[in-house]
Amino acid sequence: MAPLLAKNIIQIIFLLFTIFSLSKAELHAHYYDQTCPQLEKIVSETVLEASNHDPKVPARILRMFFHDCFIRGCDASILLDSTATNQAEKDGPPNVSVRSFYVIDDVKAKLESACPHTVSCADIIAIAARDVVTMSGGPYWSVLKGRKDGMVSKASDTVNLPAPTLNVSQLIQSFAKRGLGVKDMVTLSGGHTLGFSHCSSFVARVHNFSLLHAVDPRMNKEFALGLRNKCPKPFNNGDAGQFLDSTASVFDNDYYKQLLAGKGVFSSDQSLVDDYRTRWIVEAFARDQSLFFKEFAASMLKLGNVRGSENGEVRLNCRIPNWRHKY
Ligand code: HEM
Ligand SMILES: *[C@@H]1O[C@H](CO)[C@@H](O)[C@H](O)[C@H]1NC(C)=O
Ligand SMILES: *[C@@H]1O[C@H](CO)[C@@H](O)[C@H](O)[C@H]1NC(C)=O
Ligand SMILES: *[C@@H]1O[C@H](CO)[C@@H](O)[C@H](O)[C@H]1NC(C)=O
Repeated sequence: MAPLLAKNIIQIIFLLFTIFSLSKAELHAHYYDQTCPQLEKIVSETVLEASNHDPKVPARILRMFFHDCFIRGCDASILLDSTATNQAEKDGPPNVSVRSFYVIDDVKAKLESACPHTVSCADIIAIAARDVVTMSGGPYWSVLKGRKDGMVSKASDTVNLPAPTLNVSQLIQSFAKRGLGVKDMVTLSGGHTLGFSHCSSFVARVHNFSLLHAVDPRMNKEFALGLRNKCPKPFNNGDAGQFLDSTASVFDNDYYKQLLAGKGVFSSDQSLVDDYRTRWIVEAFARDQSLFFKEFAASMLKLGNVRGSENGEVRLNCRIPNWRHKY
């Protein structure tokens, strides 16, 4: 009995190992070289055209990739639509956030005619995120592919996204849960070189901040007054807000220079200069843009490697899991 049990246990362990190693199947730069050679061209042309029409697209797609990878791994869970019985991730709080899903739909439609049922939606987001960075003046890197699309998307998961009120320890912890280090955290926060924030994400810093301070004392005074004017109280303009750095459509190292000048928009951004674990990285990137670019490309590869549940599929429509398709 005992040897039999031992043998079973060993078999189970081997089985688990096999499942585990399958589930961690490596991503590859050349994953679609044979099956969809036009892939990268289709993605970049579509994303470029959409960005020319709407300059908000690049920032939104970069943020889409971040949110997708932070919830259930990079599995396109962010693209699934809500149903009568399930509120999806994209409709969870913060619901003012990610938009421009139509761009991914567009890419997917073109891919379904060029190479049907081949390219996962998760890989499309990863390639598009690289493209928006490159076309905005940032670095280029070779995107690793071979992700599968997940079947689950829950609004309640979005509580696991880092909030703009987090301090450095909390930010480090949030990234560490996804296998990302302190340097990755500071580097990827540099994504805030693109885009815009609504008042709700920072307004508590500039009105009635604390008993002693009307505004967050870490902020540059003029900058704080500017934000107060953009977001007056009582607050009634849901579209109002602030660009995240002074060159918000250009991917550059200006974000880090702004942080050193007390002009970070979020408390989480500004806190990166207050802590010895992160300040030296901010200073290095503010001095040396090419260092930031090199590190950003490396950290985006790591972000793109955050894996979730692996019993995924290649969705036919990025908004709907295949089992719900009407043929
Ligand atoms: C470190 C933790 C992070 C926090 C707390 C955070 C928080 C936020 C918040 C609150 C907004 C504004 C949403 C709004 O009010 O409209 C925002 C915008 C944005 N975030 Fe982050 N973020 C973080 C990391 C990242 C990362 C890692 C990236 C990408 C690499 C990223 C890319 C962006 C972009 C591009 C925008 C602008 C979106 C737009 O213009 O529509 N963020 N972020
Ligand atoms: C966010 O969602 C809540 C509840 O689902 C809704 O009441 C609110 O209007 C939404 N806000 C925005 C800006 O869409
Ligand atoms: C960060 O916030 C947590 C939770 O509020 C707190 O326990 C911790 O002391 C803070 N850490 C720092 C470095 O401020
Ligand atoms: C600031 O907060 C205090 C305490 O919450 C409140 O009594 C006061 O009215 C607030 N002031 C402004 C200007 O909002």
